[in-house]
Amino acid sequence: MPVPGPGYSITVRVEAPPSASAAGDLTGAAGRAGAVITAFDVVESHSDRIVVDITANAHSADHAEEITAALEELPGVNVRKVSDRTFLIHLGGKIEIASKVQLRNRDDLSRAYTPGVARISQAIAKNPADARRLTIKRNTVAVVTDGSAVLGLGNIGPAAALPVMEGKAALFKKFAGVDAWPVCLDTQDTEEIIRTVQLIAPVYGGINLEDIAAPRCFEIEARLRELLDIPVFHDDQHGTAIVVVGALRNALRVVGKNLADCKIVVCGAGAAGSAIIRLLLQKGPGDILAVDVNGIVHPDRDDLDPNLTWLAQNTNRNLVSGKVTDAMVDADVFIGVSAPNLFGADAVATMAKDAIVFALANPDPEIDPLEAQKHAAVVATGRSDYPNQINNVLAFPGVFRGLLDAQARGITDTMLLAAADAIADVVDGDRINASFIVPSVFDSAVAPAVAEAVARAAAP
Ligand SMILES: NC(=O)c1ccc[n+]([C@@H]2O[C@H](COP(=O)([O-])OP(=O)(O)OC[C@H]3O[C@@H](n4cnc5c(N)ncnc54)[C@H](O)[C@@H]3O)[C@@H](O)[C@H]2O)c1
Repeated sequence: MPVPGPGYSITVRVEAPPSASAAGDLTGAAGRAGAVITAFDVVESHSDRIVVDITANAHSADHAEEITAALEELPGVNVRKVSDRTFLIHLGGKIEIASKVQLRNRDDLSRAYTPGVARISQAIAKNPADARRLTIKRNTVAVVTDGSAVLGLGNIGPAAALPVMEGKAALFKKFAGVDAWPVCLDTQDTEEIIRTVQLIAPVYGGINLEDIAAPRCFEIEARLRELLDIPVFHDDQHGTAIVVVGALRNALRVVGKNLADCKIVVCGAGAAGSAIIRLLLQKGPGDILAVDVNGIVHPDRDDLDPNLTWLAQNTNRNLVSGKVTDAMVDADVFIGVSAPNLFGADAVATMAKDAIVFALANPDPEIDPLEAQKHAAVVATGRSDYPNQINNVLAFPGVFRGLLDAQARGITDTMLLAAADAIADVVDGDRINASFIVPSVFDSAVAPAVAEAVARAAAP
């Protein structure tokens, strides 16, 4: 049953008779239609009518219409206007550029722009490294997408991806003071994307690749890392991997197990799953079984692309084959970054004692978390309405803050693991329990801790 939330928040402006029961009638009708009312404001009052703004959360666009219809059915009530508050905050976009310098008079102008700026350009031409000192490069990241794998929406193209990338830029600024700019490319050709990012790179101190579909994302990232002298980070891969590895460290503390003794199933061998496996392998797990839509990844499968071939060579020690539920038997850890509703509580019951289940498919996880809890000791999801939310916001702002502060020219697994440990360490020993293995995304200690750890790992 979907729950009303702020993602579908509406404000309905209604005219109603000025009776003593008006407020109760209106809120009662909206409530019976399933609305969660968050505000009730009288905006006009007349002898024959009042005008009221009712703000409420719905669970879908259709539900918002049902709430509006329920209000309109009341005798003497007229709905004037319905505003979707999510659309309202997007009007004109969510970010802007602001000047850091005053431009009040000719004097200011002569220094910020011509003729003074020419001397800065000459200095950089003579010593290109000065670009990091004397331009926005020092603090600016490009958020690059081709719009091919946007949220759970799929291939919706560059223009439709822009609100997501603007949101990402806003998060960069809010959590780590990083100036990020959306770069939505009107191509899904691997070579064109690589060349375009290479051409725009002089402006930026880092490249955050975003929502680019697998397997194209692997080659784009690898080639750009070779070509550029700034860090290139695909958040859907490494942001997820960092948070998962950090959260798993704390989950294992809760159940008192060591990674080296654990059998881990990673369901989903795309962008997120592959990066999680690669990072986890650095930490020496007992064994990992990778599973994709065609079952357990196994060297004898005849559908292996280069990424799956690598996974087949580096996982599945006992050469097991079968379905995800076969992989789960006796597993200590299940990490799902695949598809919704793949199995029920009975599959979790076949896992080892004190099992850990991270069901991260969004918006609907591989298993209903309440079902998973019947047999698992620790459960995490990607959702904000359950405990233990695995959210990339815990990683990417601090990671780039650290990379920019260190003027890093690249990014290594050591830095990713340092970020994972920093996130895990924010949940100190006294607070850690089965419902609290990762800090809140609003914990202000996270981004500075991640930044410091990454900068330390990046230091020469
Ligand atoms: N923080 C988070 O919670 C978080 C982070 C990243 C990704 N995710 C979620 O993880 C999922 C995958 O993301 P991605 O970017 O890696 O996508 P992707 O398309 O790159 O990979 C999807 C993978 O899932 C596999 N898969 C699909 N259906 C399957 C099935 N029925 N059984 C087993 N495997 C199946 C595919 O074969 C593929 O390997 C999405 O739902 C995404 O929202 C969540």
